[in-house]
Amino acid sequence: MARNKIALIGSGMIGGTLAHLIGLKELGDVVLFDIAEGTPQGKALDIAQSSPVEGFDAKLKGVNEYAGIEGADVCIVTAGVPRKPGMSRDDLLGINLRVMEQVGAGIKKYAPNAFVICITNPLDAMVWALQKFSGLAPEKVVGMAGVLDSARFRLFLAEEFGVSVEDVSAMTLGGHGDDMVPLIRYSTVAGIPLPDLVKMGWTTQEKLDAIVERTRKGGGEIVGLLKTGSAYYAPAASAVAMAESYLKDKKRVLPCAAHLSGQYGLNDTYVGVPVVIGAGGVEKIVEIAFNKDEQAMFEKSVQAVSGLTDACLKIVPALAE
Ligand code: LMR
Repeated sequence: MARNKIALIGSGMIGGTLAHLIGLKELGDVVLFDIAEGTPQGKALDIAQSSPVEGFDAKLKGVNEYAGIEGADVCIVTAGVPRKPGMSRDDLLGINLRVMEQVGAGIKKYAPNAFVICITNPLDAMVWALQKFSGLAPEKVVGMAGVLDSARFRLFLAEEFGVSVEDVSAMTLGGHGDDMVPLIRYSTVAGIPLPDLVKMGWTTQEKLDAIVERTRKGGGEIVGLLKTGSAYYAPAASAVAMAESYLKDKKRVLPCAAHLSGQYGLNDTYVGVPVVIGAGGVEKIVEIAFNKDEQAMFEKSVQAVSGLTDACLKIVPALAE
């Protein structure tokens, strides 16, 4: 049986971590693409040399030409630049939009049947543009953010309650910016909703509010610590969970930046919502009910995303077609 082919477009810190995780999980053969000569080749060879020690079978290859991604089943896009301390994700829009144009053209030509997961920031606007540049079906192009933001939310909650991360379920929706929407009402410890845990006296509303705020600024916290770039382990793990659900038709329900056409009252918008990912790509968009406060937070976050897509349209008017 032929192995899956997974193309990693961008071979920086996330690209290398993705390749290693995909090898360890034996999800398929990996092609690392980058315009920087030697980087993808070096990373591919290094990770391949870890395979006898780790005991996994996968072919890893580094390439500098888009032709190398030909026929990929999955493309994970990290190409572009990360932010540095003092920058917001939005500051990357102009430069990364041009990168998405190149990447979209490469995918259109060489991997038109792939499931595409975008990680490049500002996430929701970049995945929106990438879908248009690539011309792929909207259900085959998604953005990785909700899984990452929800993982941060889960970790902070697990630490607060002193329980395993496995017993914490949490959901963060909306755009991948500081206005994202961590949903206290839809998050649980051992199946018990957080508001009930406040009533039981296990935590306080103030502590939960602080965790929500820390989750919203989670990416910035890492940027401030690393100083030279942004997070890569957790973003890579999150994208791999999405790729695995697609490749194995697991039909996991994951919060992802998905293309909305009527759902949540939005049209031609990418924003984080719960979706079912299976062999068909995004097979279902789950529409959850918001209360008044949640609706207001979601709308504010969507507004921030619309501002960014409008900015993309100003730079590349052809995206409107
Ligand atoms: C993250 O949330 O870690 C990424 O979006 C990178 C960043 O710039 O924060």
